Amino acid sequence: MQNIPELNPDDYSAIVFFTGAGMSAESGIPTYRGAGGIWHEYRWEEYACQDAFDVDPEKVLDFHELRRPKVLECNPHIGHEIITRIQRKHPSCWIVTQNIDGMHQRSGSRNVVELHGSLWRMRCSQHGISEDPSVRYQTRRCSICGNWLRPDITWFNDMLDAVVMEKAHNLINNAQLFITIGTSGVVYPAAMFPRLASDAGAKCVYINTETPGDESLYDIVALGKASEVLNGMFPLA
Ligand code: APR
Repeated sequence: MQNIPELNPDDYSAIVFFTGAGMSAESGIPTYRGAGGIWHEYRWEEYACQDAFDVDPEKVLDFHELRRPKVLECNPHIGHEIITRIQRKHPSCWIVTQNIDGMHQRSGSRNVVELHGSLWRMRCSQHGISEDPSVRYQTRRCSICGNWLRPDITWFNDMLDAVVMEKAHNLINNAQLFITIGTSGVVYPAAMFPRLASDAGAKCVYINTETPGDESLYDIVALGKASEVLNGMFPLA
């Protein structure tokens, strides 16, 4: 790992951590695209889009239900904890995450914007969203209309929730420090966020085990594992 510059969160009035699957990798949760990535083992066309759900809801629900015990076996790591500690001291520190695993919240973080939804919620197209945090789904059918419940997750070809997007945009537009961690940056619209932050004048930091596609967006590029880089970058947290 390279020498990591130290940052003091007190120097910034508004901070956004923008996280992807690489943030959870050290907890043991597989990423989507790298070695061992979920989309190498499973075709998203069969498991992670509305069309697949319409054709075979039980197959899609089985896939997502399988992920629940695997995620629950994993625990937040020191990187999650460092972000949580910074948040406790700075109410204007937010997390905008693409992750659906709930790992930030399990480490005690609040102020989490879940761009791509949550593995722990279900949704009826008629009757809205219900929490379902158990290892197995409590039910696969809506208690009111009997229709299939689908995971409240943004699948491929889905639109992102407009309210959630607006919240993320506002936070990023106002951020003084924007730190992107563990995302390949290939899935839009989230992939636009580093540019948005850079254009809005935030100090932009990149943390990843691999080099960024566009290095010019960042004031600091820190290559290494999320936990190790965060530990070196925020020694006072
Ligand atoms: N520390 C930091 N970065 C890491 C680590 C680590 N320990 N391990 C892996 N990475 C990086 C990889 O180099 C890669 O850039 O994490 C990134 C993971 O990329 P993806 O698997 O593409 O995950 P993500 O960017 O979150 O995917 C975006 O795609 O499939 C959809 O909806 C799904 O939210 C997901 C979205």
